[in-house]
Amino acid sequence: MTGHQLRKKFLDFFVSKGHAVIPSSSIVPEHDPTVLFTTAGMHPLVPYLLGESHPAGGRLADSQKCLRTDDIEEVGDESHLTFFEMLGNWSLGDYFKKESIPWSFEFLTDKKWLGVDPKKMYVTVFAGDADAPFDEESVEIWKAEFKKKKIGAELSKKHDIGSGGRIFAYGKEQNWWGPAGQTGPCGPDTEIFYDTGKEHDSKRGTACHPNCSCGRFVEIWNNVFMQYNRKAVEEKGYRFEPLEQKNVDTGMGLERITAVLQKVSDVFRTDLFEPIIRKVEAITGRKYGENGDDTRKMRIIADHLRAATFILGDDWGVTPSNKDQGYICRRLIRRAVVQAWLLDVFRPFASDVANEVIIAYSSAYPELQKNKKRILEELVIEEEKFQKTLERGIKMIGEIASRGEKTLSGQRAFELYATYGFPLEIAREILSVKTGGAVSVDEEAYRRELEKHQDISRAGSVGKFAGGLADHTIEVVRGHTATHLLHQALKTVLGSEVEQRGSNITAERLRFDFSWPAKPSTEQIKAVENLVNEQIGMNLPVRFEILDVEQARQTGALGYFEDKYASLGGKIKVYLVGDDQRGYFSKEICGGPHVSRTGELGGFKILKEEAVSAGVRRIKATIGAPKE
Ligand code: ALA
Repeated sequence: MTGHQLRKKFLDFFVSKGHAVIPSSSIVPEHDPTVLFTTAGMHPLVPYLLGESHPAGGRLADSQKCLRTDDIEEVGDESHLTFFEMLGNWSLGDYFKKESIPWSFEFLTDKKWLGVDPKKMYVTVFAGDADAPFDEESVEIWKAEFKKKKIGAELSKKHDIGSGGRIFAYGKEQNWWGPAGQTGPCGPDTEIFYDTGKEHDSKRGTACHPNCSCGRFVEIWNNVFMQYNRKAVEEKGYRFEPLEQKNVDTGMGLERITAVLQKVSDVFRTDLFEPIIRKVEAITGRKYGENGDDTRKMRIIADHLRAATFILGDDWGVTPSNKDQGYICRRLIRRAVVQAWLLDVFRPFASDVANEVIIAYSSAYPELQKNKKRILEELVIEEEKFQKTLERGIKMIGEIASRGEKTLSGQRAFELYATYGFPLEIAREILSVKTGGAVSVDEEAYRRELEKHQDISRAGSVGKFAGGLADHTIEVVRGHTATHLLHQALKTVLGSEVEQRGSNITAERLRFDFSWPAKPSTEQIKAVENLVNEQIGMNLPVRFEILDVEQARQTGALGYFEDKYASLGGKIKVYLVGDDQRGYFSKEICGGPHVSRTGELGGFKILKEEAVSAGVRRIKATIGAPKE
């Protein structure tokens, strides 16, 4: 079975269980300031997990484009990836543990579906702590499932596979999904592991068990039972409140399960990567798997360019830049180019790799084909820019080496970065390869330099990459509503050609990117601000309607994701601001949530208007009563 067939089987299976298949959301989370990219399938569904009604109903399944950069340094081994697809099924207040677990088991083990040998499967559950009890219910359901296959499944008393159990209990660090240090829906989970049979590395001197990192057990599927909302409270910090609506959120990494089924330990040897690796072989003239160092570099090229292709090919239209998502995109492309340099490839090649990605993935993600021109063009532009940077940097490093210096000073390293966009990690890599480690970077001094320069993008900071959930504090909800008002006000004042290009809301401010060819005048910006404040002053009601796509189009509702929503069985949610007497100021396709009256916003102030890139402007604004 190919990975592409597997994706389809998964969705077909859940359709047979009454689920609606929804398209992948954008790889850039809409209205979520806590992360730059969608890091899990549940991410775009947070409002629905908190109780908003979803137009496609209470049972959903999808394959979501995800990107995680926290392990970017690990990419190059057999299993780490930045971009990956997460298969998921959801219950929004519909079914719970006693359906979800048996379905996972059925899909994995039934010959009609994946036919995985159940004897190779081990599972884990939440052990319980002060916040939530031991998940005994899941243990009982698992026992019954294994029993149907005549397989014993006891709860192991120790974290030791030798003790004979099949079910293992762990604390929050392993069997809990939810926001670390943040607020949002969360709960215990049960994870399914596959026993690869690989020998436990006994040199560690510890017993082997599902969460042992020796590589014997591979986690293939996670079922999260969202029963709680982690709420911030003063003094104590936070509190777990039971959710009125109990949800199921599951996640299965497509690349990983494909590797298990295709019986390879290397995800780059699955059919999902095969055409990409073949192209990288042709470009570099090296054979994959022949030499360890070369193979590592080829994997980085394949992973990073697949990720960059999905970022550039997303409908949000992120392009390489020095900020936020654009910065990550740039970094992925540049890291791939560096690896190719180290394999003696000096001509532009990234778009050739991207082309393979587009061919392999367009049937599942049609936006890649739609945005093909942009993907290929942006890669060529970025590569050309970076070639110049690299040449300068390598010259500088060469000079240092020829002078016999042992370190690249913090100031020089910073200069390389700030002036030429030559990242520290790449300077480090080139130094180690080209000088055999004889010249190193004074990284501490580099960091001090970096701190001195406040204007450097904050996107590189670790915090931004941590997985997290949307913050639905009331400030953020107000921000959502203000964003709709701002969107419409811009169209009214500047013209209907204005299109949303991005949005980011925190408790402190909102940010809105839109297409417009020139700098709006001060008067125009003031008029936009006044128009939004007028709507707030009228205290207009805000409500939503679930409409057919065609009906929604007829109402003239704005909606960046119209095309995607269009496939949700034809139903979409439209938020309306206004009433029949005073008219509807704004109609916009959106998942919500929103305030119920515009008066709750208190006021609206535009702090700044600036260019983001050619033809794209950015507004930053605050919400709340103006301070006298
Ligand atoms: N949200 C869960 C995960 O990503 C399913 O593992």
